[in-house]
Amino acid sequence: MSDSPDTHRKISTHTFHLKKQRGEQLTMLTAYDYPTARAVDLAGIDSILVGDSLGMVVLGYENTLPVTMEEMLHHCRAVSRGASRALLIGDMPFMSYQVNSQEAVRNAGRFLQEAGMDAVKLEGGRERLEAIQAIVGSGIPVLGHLGLTPQSVHQLGGYKAQGTTATAARRLLEDALLLEDSGCFGIVLESVPARVAEYISSRLSIPTIGIGAGGGCDGQVLVTHDLLGLFDKFTPKFVKQYATLHKHIDTALAAFKKEVETGIFPGPDHSFSIPDKEWQLFLEEDGVS
Ligand code: KIV
Repeated sequence: MSDSPDTHRKISTHTFHLKKQRGEQLTMLTAYDYPTARAVDLAGIDSILVGDSLGMVVLGYENTLPVTMEEMLHHCRAVSRGASRALLIGDMPFMSYQVNSQEAVRNAGRFLQEAGMDAVKLEGGRERLEAIQAIVGSGIPVLGHLGLTPQSVHQLGGYKAQGTTATAARRLLEDALLLEDSGCFGIVLESVPARVAEYISSRLSIPTIGIGAGGGCDGQVLVTHDLLGLFDKFTPKFVKQYATLHKHIDTALAAFKKEVETGIFPGPDHSFSIPDKEWQLFLEEDGVS
């Protein structure tokens, strides 16, 4: 069998490695439920990230900090039932890997053992090496995440671009090299200047997956809800909306309300019938002549 990443074979971390070597772009999107996972998988996207962004996008939290392991596992299970080809990555929630390496390994293991994931992602650089090495050492692939790391939003002082000074860019590069040395199979670079992300990507043998990090990364990830335009409230600068589904949803919901209130829905096309003979019998038996 050839090693080429074709459209049917299950994507693995090895595919990530091959695509980086060949200069082929990697694609990754988020999914948090069965139908979205199915659509993303059928579209041939390389990887599905069950991101802790689900806290904001589907659970209505203000940020990702309240998301728990149980919530993540619940959504990961649904996604794993909907996808068969894409590499499935479970995002480790806040405080599931920061306390100590033992807890980090135990929680990372749950993503694979209980929720059908193939790999995990966690945020942070030099301060996370011990946890990353322990997880990788137990046989679980780890995707790193540098730049804007939303679980540190309070430390970062908001959702701002990172690596915008020479010193910060140097620190990002050092962290990326450390993550590579620690065994990460790839690194998400979030909200990093395009030139910095491109330079870091050129210095690594593992792929970088950019989000708000320009076109010089080895792949791109977006939150699917943003890409589809499911919300009209806020769209980050780096998001390209490929659809404005919220408009279609608004139109459909208004049409439903109007048709029910005016008696148009349900009409005969959406109703069941009983044969005349049975109907007459029913009425007679009930004393209606
Ligand atoms: O949680 C998430 O969806 C993420 C992506 C934005 C990379 O971390």
